Amino acid sequence: MSRAPLPYSSKILELFRNPKNLGKMTDATVSAEAGSPVCGDIIAIYLKVESDEVISKASFESYGCAANIATASMLTEMVKGKTLEGAWRIGWKEVSEEVGGLPAVKFHCGVLAVGALRRAIREHFKVRGSKPDWLPEQDTLEEKQALEEEKLAQILSKRLLAGKDQSDSK
Ligand code: FES
Repeated sequence: MSRAPLPYSSKILELFRNPKNLGKMTDATVSAEAGSPVCGDIIAIYLKVESDEVISKASFESYGCAANIATASMLTEMVKGKTLEGAWRIGWKEVSEEVGGLPAVKFHCGVLAVGALRRAIREHFKVRGSKPDWLPEQDTLEEKQALEEEKLAQILSKRLLAGKDQSDSK
């Protein structure tokens, strides 16, 4: 059965083929992951944060789809030169707009990229032992979505393992 190609914007396709800031950052100040290694949709964000809380460098690794790679690439460009507060305020819709719009079934891929960035920002302040006023106590939509995906992946992997055990015992 053939599947119709997803209506990706030319920007998404371009960033998927030539992503910017791809790769682990060896001198990162902070990093965070979101998603699940079980289903393969996992993303890591690395930030180099200067003493004035400005992000001087950002990079990512992604085992997600084209939409995830493109949004992560765009996001790492958008946060460069921003303060942590400025980076925190970038929502997934803004990133989606910058890549020319995500197909509806791929919204979560952009959300996951922003979820990883926000985790990295939270981690930065956790390590420093201080919390600025602008950082909310509660998880934001993007962080909740990352947690949801991780929970879902755990359930699926448990089901798969249970199914395997059953077939092994036959
Ligand atoms: Fe999972 Fe895009 S990151 S489908």
